[in-house]
Amino acid sequence: MTVFGILTGYKNGHLPSLAGADWERNSFAMTPHLIIRGGRKLSGDIRIGGMKNAALPILFALLLVQDEVTLEELPPVTDIETTLQILCNAGAEMERLSPTAIRIHTKNADPDAVPLRLTTELRGSSYLLGAELGRFGRAVTGIPGGCNFGIRPLDQHFRLLRALGAAIEEENGLLCASAPKGLHGAQIRLDFPSVGATVNGILAATRATGTTVISNAAREPHIVDLANFLNACGAEISGAGTSTIRICGIPRLHGTRYRIAPDMIEAGTYLCAVCGTGGKLRLENVCPEHLGAILSPLRKMGAEINVSDQDLTLERTGTLYGTVLETAPYPGFPTDMQPQFAPLLCISRGGGRIYERVWKNRFQYADELCRMGGNIRLAGDFADFSGGDRLTGTTVRATDLRGGAAMLIAGLCAKGTTALYDIRHIERGYPDFAAKLTAIGADVCTAAEKSGAR
Ligand code: EPU
Repeated sequence: MTVFGILTGYKNGHLPSLAGADWERNSFAMTPHLIIRGGRKLSGDIRIGGMKNAALPILFALLLVQDEVTLEELPPVTDIETTLQILCNAGAEMERLSPTAIRIHTKNADPDAVPLRLTTELRGSSYLLGAELGRFGRAVTGIPGGCNFGIRPLDQHFRLLRALGAAIEEENGLLCASAPKGLHGAQIRLDFPSVGATVNGILAATRATGTTVISNAAREPHIVDLANFLNACGAEISGAGTSTIRICGIPRLHGTRYRIAPDMIEAGTYLCAVCGTGGKLRLENVCPEHLGAILSPLRKMGAEINVSDQDLTLERTGTLYGTVLETAPYPGFPTDMQPQFAPLLCISRGGGRIYERVWKNRFQYADELCRMGGNIRLAGDFADFSGGDRLTGTTVRATDLRGGAAMLIAGLCAKGTTALYDIRHIERGYPDFAAKLTAIGADVCTAAEKSGAR
């Protein structure tokens, strides 16, 4: 029986001793976890890193560029490390210039050397299909992994790649694609503005013969960043950031130096944390134009936000109010931010509701939040929060990347000590999150730090 199995059924977080010394003697406590002592106001500065969900397609796009590329602001998170490992195993030659910058070329890349097991560890590995088809006319990848939100179909990716001339089959847990006669331009309308399908379409079409037009394309900033990167390498892509993207295929791309745009979800997560605890946060390296749909509910909830050319500040000193959120593709309110607002709604005056319109199953964190005292009712694609809850520290786990960020925020807002397990999910997308939070006054440390220094 797992420890979490034992805990099932305890609601409202009344297990404070489990986060204490007795708990640590249990061998399970030796798995990496975070100890959060909540209830502190947070204040200070945080520098935001490069956008993970832009860095992933840009890294796979390197397969289309045989010359040397220098990338800056690569976020040092495990999803990026896994992607670099996939590329290097496949023959890319890379030099690390700093923790966030690399020089790399894929001149000698070999599609048969791709480590298939690693490709199952992240969702972004589906981008191997578009990139390898574009470069080699064939591709093989494992069924992509990533956060578990129920079934994550790839039908839109396949429709797009097939329209460009590829044949795709699923065999023994592998996706195999080929285009022996090469890829050709096509006009295609996506059924849903899928980020991943749009990325794969751009990757496959960049070196195809002729012109491709993708309509009902995703408009997310990561799509724009990918197009900007490829254009810096000589590609001819227009319309990224709108619903219609036009790609005139060209035979060859050249090297470049490129700085990845700041991560709007990392920025939004820290803004939520400080809006929840109260205090004042200044963010450096942000793109305010990407943050509109995140700042607007934070303002409604009582935060004062000021934006300048160089930075963004958020301050909350008064009451935290509830609100209603509804996720939607960009420029709507991002699904990747709804979990982080959940602990705020729990403790807010008036509570609220979150409608999840992008993923079928993205409220797994709700059970964990209920253990801490959250009063949440799930009903189909929405969750109701009664508000006015007093969150109390206990032992919880990160269910997925953003669900983990939500539990981290809950721990910061809670009374007492929270032990947060499965933080590997958070490490997939948030660089140095414990250090960044400590720098603004949070009491957060890993279990190893705790047994040593404290
Ligand atoms: N969908 C299909 N068929 C497809 C593709 C998608 O039905 O072929 C559906 C999905 O099931 C889902 C919706 O369309 O209901 C959106 O999927 P999308 O393809 O846009 O998502 P994705 O590319 O798999 C990326 C991000 C996610 C983020 C979504 C939505 C990456 C690596 N992942 O996923 O990020 O939630 O877009 O914005 O870029 C995260 O960072 O925590 C994360 C999960």
